[in-house]
Amino acid sequence: MNILITGANRGLGLALCKIFLGSGHRVFALYRSKGETLEKLENEQADHNKANLVPIQCDVTDEAQLRAAHDHIQAMSPALDILINNAAVHLEQNKPDIDELDFSVYLPTFEVNAVAPLMAAVSFLPLLRAGTEKCIINISSEAGSIGSCWRDREYAYCMSKAALNMGMRIFQNRLKDEQFRIRLIHPGWVRTDMGGSNAELSPEESAQAVFNQIMLTIQSPATAEKPLYIDWEGKPLAW
Ligand SMILES: NC(=O)c1ccc[n+]([C@@H]2O[C@H](COP(=O)([O-])OP(=O)(O)OC[C@H]3O[C@@H](n4cnc5c(N)ncnc54)[C@H](OP(=O)(O)O)[C@@H]3O)[C@@H](O)[C@H]2O)c1
Repeated sequence: MNILITGANRGLGLALCKIFLGSGHRVFALYRSKGETLEKLENEQADHNKANLVPIQCDVTDEAQLRAAHDHIQAMSPALDILINNAAVHLEQNKPDIDELDFSVYLPTFEVNAVAPLMAAVSFLPLLRAGTEKCIINISSEAGSIGSCWRDREYAYCMSKAALNMGMRIFQNRLKDEQFRIRLIHPGWVRTDMGGSNAELSPEESAQAVFNQIMLTIQSPATAEKPLYIDWEGKPLAW
């Protein structure tokens, strides 16, 4: 299969790249800044004469760069099977309380976490329509659940993930007659730059669980009524 992963240079995105490559799939790895880790993976692949990793520079908030990435992929392949919208930011890492909120980070957070995944889905739609799986996976978060919200801070991140969920719900309504499979997956609390060192899951454990959910998604008929918003173990989440 042909898989596209955004934010593929570190954290969960990089771990997902490794799993898909290890399973013999071709990965178009979109990155904003390549970094040593993705370069190392590229060198390892080259050492083993494997051409399955295709790194492409792309800031997902830039529509022209998404279009250029589309054209780059189209020149190599007529179709994409799975788009994984993984790139995201959490710009309130120090979790400020209401008297210390910095509203300058809100729109940039929305741009990356909520608008860019929809923009990517639209940009790559011609290639996805030509694919066999027609699958769009969005790495969301339980933080986007309004129904089970417990936090009293982290507004920007939580609001942006709730907006991502709504955008993809509407997108699914629009595409369901075309047999598209769309999911919003909470990957667990993961030891990445975003999740921090105290998190429960390693990037590899989370990526393996997310990979399993993706495989279950593409194995089930596109017409079957399935929960759209789930966690890494497949449990449905409250919207
Ligand atoms: N870690 C957790 O505990 C946790 C929990 C729930 C959900 N999630 C979700 O899981 C996904 C992966 O998170 P992570 O923990 O792996 O985060 P991370 O380690 O902070 O990595 C974030 C990735 O997103 C990329 N990115 C950010 N802005 C971008 C842009 N404008 N264009 C292109 N790429 C951009 C980063 O690229 P640069 O290196 O260039 O910055 C990086 O590759 C996210 O959607 C996150 O919200 C994570």
